[in-house]
Amino acid sequence: MRETILSTRKLSKTYVADGVQAHVLGSVDLELYRGDFTSIMGPSGSGKSTLLYCLSGMDAPTSGEVIFEGEDIARLGQGRLSELRAQRFGFVFQAANLVSNLTLYENVAVPGYLKRGRSASETKRATDELVARMGLAQVASHLPSQASGGQKQRCAVARAVVNEPAIVFADEPTGALNRANSLEVLDLLGELNRNGISILMVTHDVRSAVRGNRVLYFEDGGIRGELELAPWDPAFSGDEAYVREREAMANAWLASLSW
Ligand SMILES: Nc1ncnc2c1ncn2[C@@H]1O[C@H](COP(=O)(O)OP(=O)(O)OP(=O)(O)O)[C@@H](O)[C@H]1O
Ligand SMILES: [Mg+2]
Repeated sequence: MRETILSTRKLSKTYVADGVQAHVLGSVDLELYRGDFTSIMGPSGSGKSTLLYCLSGMDAPTSGEVIFEGEDIARLGQGRLSELRAQRFGFVFQAANLVSNLTLYENVAVPGYLKRGRSASETKRATDELVARMGLAQVASHLPSQASGGQKQRCAVARAVVNEPAIVFADEPTGALNRANSLEVLDLLGELNRNGISILMVTHDVRSAVRGNRVLYFEDGGIRGELELAPWDPAFSGDEAYVREREAMANAWLASLSW
């Protein structure tokens, strides 16, 4: 029996700009399961980023509920919400959004110091490990302005997970990366997932989406379809036939949704 980690009930979001209303999220009913690597695909402008912001408490929905571990985060005060975001959530933005006057090392470490019940030396160890794992050791003392796009995005992933969140939201984390950097970021997300962190990743790329064991298709303000896959097996990451087979399943599914 799968355990729900995050769910929505009739989640809706309407933006008003210049007196014009845009109904971006219709009435989204979504169920995410603990331990899953869930991918979300869908047309540009359909509201995927908006959905991620509402699920992670970065933006407030217009109406509806967002239940995380039994608590409606759409109704929480700023204090409790900040605590949840510091203790339980990680977020990777499409553009890395690093703090420009901190080094890459400091960007990773800072959220780690907010983790309750962990000593400074434990946070330092976690930061050192992540910096090494993401191939950033040589550039750890660089400012973001002195780092490449790939280095910045790997830093952004490390920063999102240094506090050992329950769930990581990743908004096109590989959208701006070349193939080698994309693979590293996807491998890290997969590894985190196998270590028990739930992942929700938005992507336009089928090859990236099939890293998940579940793919959702988002369009016209709601979830229009879903595909279940066997969990990604890292032993086959370099096996082109394995990747192609998963891609073919996802493409057939997308075609059936007439995408
Ligand atoms: N702050 C805002 N005010 C008004 N409209 C907004 C705002 N943010 C987003 N929108 C509109 O909401 C719609 C959904 O935007 P969103 O960024 O969620 O789409 P998306 O699916 O993530 O697109 P993409 O794949 O291109 O990243 C778009 O039409 C966008 O113009
Ligand atoms: Mg987006």
